Amino acid sequence: MEKIAVITSGGDAPGMNACIRAIVMTADQNDLEVIGFGHGYRGIVEDLNQPLRPNDMRLVSQRGGTILLSSRFPEFKQDKIAKQAATVLDQHGVGALIVIGGDGSFRGASHLARFWQGQIIGIPGTIDNDLAGTDTTIGFATAVDTAMEAIDRIRETAEAMARVFLIEVMGRHAGFIGLHAAIAGSAEAMLVPELEPQPKLADLADNIRRARKAYPDSSYIIVVSENLWPGGIDELSRALGQATGVTCHAAPLGHIQRGGRPNAQDRILSMQLGQSAVHAILDGSRTVMIGIEQGHVVQVPLHLTFQRDKPLDQRLVDLQLGLQQINFASNDA
Ligand code: F6P
Repeated sequence: MEKIAVITSGGDAPGMNACIRAIVMTADQNDLEVIGFGHGYRGIVEDLNQPLRPNDMRLVSQRGGTILLSSRFPEFKQDKIAKQAATVLDQHGVGALIVIGGDGSFRGASHLARFWQGQIIGIPGTIDNDLAGTDTTIGFATAVDTAMEAIDRIRETAEAMARVFLIEVMGRHAGFIGLHAAIAGSAEAMLVPELEPQPKLADLADNIRRARKAYPDSSYIIVVSENLWPGGIDELSRALGQATGVTCHAAPLGHIQRGGRPNAQDRILSMQLGQSAVHAILDGSRTVMIGIEQGHVVQVPLHLTFQRDKPLDQRLVDLQLGLQQINFASNDA
């Protein structure tokens, strides 16, 4: 019987557990044994292995986080550490490794492929949705739902108090969560890294001032991607407050966007990708990511997923930029 190993690596994402379930169930149906290593690549090197059987998969897919645990493990870039991982995988008789993670995890997988002869299959698992070759990634839809719900809650108090809020969302250096959350949360303004040109502080301030004048009893929400503004959201709020004379409240959403039960979309995607990953192993694929494009499961060479920038959907960018145009004509004397 051939053996498959699974790890979850880097930032956890809601849906990873559903994906593990699909891998284990599909492997079992095909007489493949599955082991998991805890804490991602570190767990391979330290041999933190555990068997994964169908009976262990009950009440798993509903849960956020990852039952396999995860970690960031920059040491894996070193050749000697990757070679240690290869040795551990060989000692266990593992023929294929499935890595559920984001771009850093796939860089690690490509590095491991230099020293290990087994099949390596990547499954895109990151709330950031910043991997090329797949329309979406495990955890992204749930993270957007979570951000939207948080924005809705802030909107209620902001509206009651007629306040301006800057809400910071995750995404590392990509604006997918920012764009989708801005649209879903009906934001008055959006700052995401992909915008060309980037809105200037003076323009943002001018817009807030005009909105306050035209609609003094209204809330005003700007969705801001993390890592975008020098000095962060606190600095931007301070600068906007100074420029407008209006207190601007900073609300970073932080890691609440990573936790929580996966929504239905993420569970379905996870199970689809997990099952397809095992089928890809049986078909002899190696060093590819299993992604989804226009509803179809695709295989993409792993290195192409992190070497290219994935653009935002311009139609959605235009949608948000169009909707956030406030018409001051009727009230602005
Ligand atoms: O990649 C997922 C992510 O949540 C990013 O959006 C964020 O920038 C980063 O991870 C945070 O990483 P950590 O939890 O290690 O601080």
